[in-house]
Amino acid sequence: MAGASYDTRRGELTTYFDRTAVEAWSRLTSDAPVSRIRATVRAGRDAMRGTLLSWLPADMTGLRLLDAGCGTGALSVEAARRGAEVVAIDVSPTLVGLAQERLPAIPGPGRIDFRVGDMLDPGLGRFDHVVAMDSLIHYRAADIVRALAVLGARTDGSVLFTVAPRTALLTVMHAAGQFFPRGDRSPAIVPVTEGGLRRRIAAEPALDGFTWAQSHRINSGFYLSNAIAMTRAARASQPRPHPEVPECSGGLEGGLQPAARSLEGSFEAAAPHLRMRGIDGTGGTAA
Ligand SMILES: C[S@@+](CC[C@H](N)C(=O)[O-])C[C@H]1O[C@@H](n2cnc3c(N)ncnc32)[C@H](O)[C@@H]1O
Repeated sequence: MAGASYDTRRGELTTYFDRTAVEAWSRLTSDAPVSRIRATVRAGRDAMRGTLLSWLPADMTGLRLLDAGCGTGALSVEAARRGAEVVAIDVSPTLVGLAQERLPAIPGPGRIDFRVGDMLDPGLGRFDHVVAMDSLIHYRAADIVRALAVLGARTDGSVLFTVAPRTALLTVMHAAGQFFPRGDRSPAIVPVTEGGLRRRIAAEPALDGFTWAQSHRINSGFYLSNAIAMTRAARASQPRPHPEVPECSGGLEGGLQPAARSLEGSFEAAAPHLRMRGIDGTGGTAA
């Protein structure tokens, strides 16, 4: 189960993505013109989505995919175009609504089931693949790993996710961020080190069946994020039915280059995964 700090942060993120930043996020994830700074973030996010998609099968016909924290749904659309049965969930009803409005025609068998709620909801069922693109970056390392454990317990193939890498520069900026007025802050990004994350994952029994398959860093201007793939090699090839109904509970189921604020205050609201923080630097401990 997720802990109290996970629940608290999820509530903050709901407010942030559903109200504070919804317009800016809508624009960032559209084709509308944006500033040069935001364009670097958009390019980085496009590259990140491409990386994560490149780790998924080219033909996903008959495979179930969870887009955990789907935002406006770009990754879901690409997976559905490959034939996947996508469950796209986000805590922000407004972003899910936008994703539905923007949904293009999907030729072929793929489809998207949009939901509003928590990505860890056990009612979502089992999946072949789970992708959490930039949706765990605001959670503490311990909460990230607990979330991965819950997601992994219902995943037969791979769990793909991103984290904000903790660099020396980013750590300084993270601390500096605490001097910004609280009212201006988005929920903090929580940078993690790869070593710390690996240790936590190794110590989590529910993730025993997974191997850390690969990782890749995207560094594009004001966007810095690490993609990580964990795969369940042992069970990935075993055929099994996909229950459409909830499974029973059991076991574990149950960096910003400084500046953006002065250059573009509202941009921080639009892109909370900028390098420095999200952008307040108050978000708890790193790995
Ligand atoms: C930075 S956005 C990324 C959205 C999308 N994955 C993308 O890359 O465009 C993070 C998203 O995660 C969502 N989110 C955060 N915590 C969540 C949770 N526990 N369950 C579902 N969605 C969550 C937020 O509402 C937000 O839309």
